[in-house]
Amino acid sequence: MGIYRYPVIRPRRLRRTQGIRDLVSQSRLSIEALVQPVFVDEGISGDRVAIESMPDQYRYSVEGVVKFVGELLEAGIKSILVFGVPSEKDPMAKRAYNNEGPVQRALRNIRREYGDEVLIATDVCVCSYTDHGHCGIIVKKGSGYVVDNDESIKILSRIAVSHAEAGADIVAPSAMMDGQVGAIREALDSEGFSDIAIMSYSAKYASSLYGPFRLAASSKPQFGDRRGYQMDPRNSWEALKEVEMDIAEGADIVMVKPGLWYLDIVRLIKDNFPEIPLAVYSVSGEYLMIKAAAMSGYISENQAILEALTAIKRAGADIIITYYAYKIPELLGR
Ligand code: PBG
Ligand code: ZN
Repeated sequence: MGIYRYPVIRPRRLRRTQGIRDLVSQSRLSIEALVQPVFVDEGISGDRVAIESMPDQYRYSVEGVVKFVGELLEAGIKSILVFGVPSEKDPMAKRAYNNEGPVQRALRNIRREYGDEVLIATDVCVCSYTDHGHCGIIVKKGSGYVVDNDESIKILSRIAVSHAEAGADIVAPSAMMDGQVGAIREALDSEGFSDIAIMSYSAKYASSLYGPFRLAASSKPQFGDRRGYQMDPRNSWEALKEVEMDIAEGADIVMVKPGLWYLDIVRLIKDNFPEIPLAVYSVSGEYLMIKAAAMSGYISENQAILEALTAIKRAGADIIITYYAYKIPELLGR
């Protein structure tokens, strides 16, 4: 067998010191490629309120968020993904495209303070804004209810335009409605926002790992579940179809979500569509798994964070959206 010979080959030479390990490391986490999710709650007085389901994470007021963004910039994290939590919900998600809604007000406040220093992406969905908590508009059908896909994408388009008006650089549709990317692209273009990018949650799986987020964003479905629109965890080829469709409809960046349990999908998409930037969302349940494991005392939180995010990078992610983003520069010694 070719490589087994004497004198022995010594791969350990390249593992000897931190310096040499760093020199030959293949996957590198860079803080420029990290995105911090940010919750803005218009019902909060004061700066922020702790999120019970996600230790060390907060919901910010439309004013308080400005200070947090300042801290992120100070640390070297330049990109955020904004989620709005409204004080009023209704069946049609009206607050989601209101000029005075939580996202719109927060964006104007952040821009006023930091201009183009900060890159702002916004989540475009209705689940935090609808009283029923689904990611689309619900209509009666027979004895039950269904999500009306084509009505929903009209509302998603209005939301995207209103986020663009408020100062978003990137809109990120997460509703998993068919045709949402194309509809949003058309709406943005016709309103004069042809330079605003779309980061599509293309392969978004119906996952148990969104539990902590739904409390944070107050977006829990009041009946049923999301399996009628989010992807079945048993499928992988379908992810290629979703990504291909989104690119054809005009997506500038595609996404896989969750991260850690879906790294095969990340690799599959990177190998098949190397030309488009790939974002991976390491979701709330992944955050909580590390947090909870660390709280047991048997797992090092800092080591686990870096290992998990490096694994996502190694699988093929260009961009990583993580609740731990704010902590990474410090962990990397920047
Ligand atoms: C809503 C949305 C969800 C997440 C991002 N956008 C949750 C869901 O589908 O219920 C999940 C994020 C996370 O768990 O961190 N469209
Ligand atoms: Zn949603």
